[in-house]
Amino acid sequence: MQKVTTGAEDRISELIERIGYHNDRYHVHDDPEIPDAEFDELVRELRELETANPELIRPDSPTQTVGADPSTLFAPVEHRMPMMSLDNAFDREELNAWADRARRRLAAEDLGDLVCELKFDGLAVSLRYVNRKLEQAATRGNGRVGEDITANILTISSIPHRLPGNAPDVLEVRGEVYMPLSAFEELNAEQDRAGKARYANPRNTAAGSLRQKDPTITATRGLSIWCYSVGEVQGGPALDTHSATLELLDTLGLPVNPETATVGSLDKAWEFVVRSESKRHGLPYEIDGAVIKVNRLDLQEELGATSRAPRWAVAYKLPPEEKTTKLLDIHVSIGGKGKATPFAALEPVFVGGSTVAMATLHNEDQVREKDVRPGDTVVVRKAGDVIPEVLGPVLADRPDGLPVWEFPEVCPCPHQQPLTRQEGDAAHYCRFPRCPEQLRGWIEHFAARNALDIEHLGEQRVRLFIDLGFISDVGDIYSLPYDRIRELEGFGELSVANLAAAIEASKQQSLARLLVGLNIRHLGDTTCELLAEAFGSLERIMGASVEELAEVDGIGPIIAESVYEFFLSEVNQEIIQKLPKELLEASSSDAEAEVEALPQTLEGMTIVVTGGVEGYTRDGVGAAIKARGGKAPGSVSSKTTALVVGENPGASKLEKAEKLGIPILDEAQFQRLIETGELP
Ligand code: IVH
Repeated sequence: MQKVTTGAEDRISELIERIGYHNDRYHVHDDPEIPDAEFDELVRELRELETANPELIRPDSPTQTVGADPSTLFAPVEHRMPMMSLDNAFDREELNAWADRARRRLAAEDLGDLVCELKFDGLAVSLRYVNRKLEQAATRGNGRVGEDITANILTISSIPHRLPGNAPDVLEVRGEVYMPLSAFEELNAEQDRAGKARYANPRNTAAGSLRQKDPTITATRGLSIWCYSVGEVQGGPALDTHSATLELLDTLGLPVNPETATVGSLDKAWEFVVRSESKRHGLPYEIDGAVIKVNRLDLQEELGATSRAPRWAVAYKLPPEEKTTKLLDIHVSIGGKGKATPFAALEPVFVGGSTVAMATLHNEDQVREKDVRPGDTVVVRKAGDVIPEVLGPVLADRPDGLPVWEFPEVCPCPHQQPLTRQEGDAAHYCRFPRCPEQLRGWIEHFAARNALDIEHLGEQRVRLFIDLGFISDVGDIYSLPYDRIRELEGFGELSVANLAAAIEASKQQSLARLLVGLNIRHLGDTTCELLAEAFGSLERIMGASVEELAEVDGIGPIIAESVYEFFLSEVNQEIIQKLPKELLEASSSDAEAEVEALPQTLEGMTIVVTGGVEGYTRDGVGAAIKARGGKAPGSVSSKTTALVVGENPGASKLEKAEKLGIPILDEAQFQRLIETGELP
């Protein structure tokens, strides 16, 4: 029996969970949180662990599945032939390894010709033509079931609604919908004009545009498609190679990418890959690699597929894009806790799918280490959604006598207070509590979900209220001049009432959350809870010495010092005086406050929630269940008492609950359950 690597099982579970989460961000929400390269790294680690421990391969592992479950926004479409993913190669060696593996599987041990295509960075779709008419279009979804996006696809002008007479009777065309760079730039220019946030990159914008509920929005987005294979085909000319398939699609008027090449060897395929990397900048659309496919369809069939990807194709993934540009200057920005972060002001450059004009340089040491100086030509890297990065200077282009950049001694705000750096800390700080540069960050932090959770007080409003002089510290949130706000453009009676109600509700938050909101340096959510529990009231924390603070389990001398200093500051004391008395008297933690106050109606019950439930935030609904004595895990099992189905529920939880015969409650039934503890 194979030896199980210590901890492998746990790590595999963790990786499966993390990859699943990021898959969902990417495929369902079109809003990834990590760069593609980081995602690929997680998958690679998982694959390596599974190769070393094949008995630990789980059927739900992302190495065995495709994409993510479709959302419930659109009707589900079952693909007649699965829409598969591709295995990746990141260098020549991995490409060779793919070819060797494939060759060994073939009786003749020869792959024959290879078709080389670009790997388009967009969203895979399937277009089903029946009797030459476009009947249905679907996203890939999890490979088996996708979403019906026919109405949206019909708005894309390069996709024919009808095929000519020589087309097969049934033809499923597979391709990648993408947003040309020109359309992306145009869309962002419009956003700029309207004063709205810019879109991050063409790929996510294409996916978001295609998955609009309202197809008239899709129609305005300038989307296009490259068709690269077929699914089900009935009738039509016999096809025996992939290149013939592409030719057929082309003659039928379906867009096939002109960069495609058929080559006779892996060396030639590698040349295509290398060429694609240098061509990348000049293309009017984004690519993230090249795809190499075995041309003969009989060999494709002989090679077959794993559960997620064909063995007859491989994707070569290009590394993140790099460009050079001019470093115009280095400025310092002040964050919510007074942290001074240097950042590069760059001559705008289009890299990794968007125009970059700024990039963080993190801290003084990083600037020194990279030795970048205003006036340098620098190399900038950006992959997909990632924050752009300045890699370093092009020394050959450095003008003579270019001075080294020095960290500024004072804060850029009008108070010009000193920026200081303590030993052992890489960052500089401005310690002036009323520094206007810090204020916005602090207010946003105060209103954030994990702090006072004040809905309707977003970034734009905070900015506006500061500009109008309504807020000069967090205490002012509780004395906003609603009469004047009501008269501002964009504020109706209802929105002011909502804001006022949200601020009113925040007065009931716990001491731990108040501490989070106070934005004390070195304090995180957990340490705030520890302090709240240990001292029980703000007054007692304010009165504690450094030693008393440091006596709390989990609170070290640095945190203790930081808390002590915070409350010592006269300005901070003034701010605290402005807070409402309910907050100043807040008790230690959410759970404690609620458990005491609420009847334990859900004792012994395990309630799973899917989708949004009106009146609750995602965390809030779990807290409400727990506060009434119930359990609120994230997934359905045989132990689940009931599944609550809110808005936009997940298909998998619903399916599982149905399979296990678990009662399914709507929002009203849930409300009744919470109040009475009775199941319908
Ligand atoms: S062929 C069974 N060809 O890459 C093989 N896919 O990472 C199906 N993609 O889901 C894919 N360009 O969305 C193929 N020239 C190309 C492609 C391509 C982009 C996408 C496609 C696929 C994903 C796999």
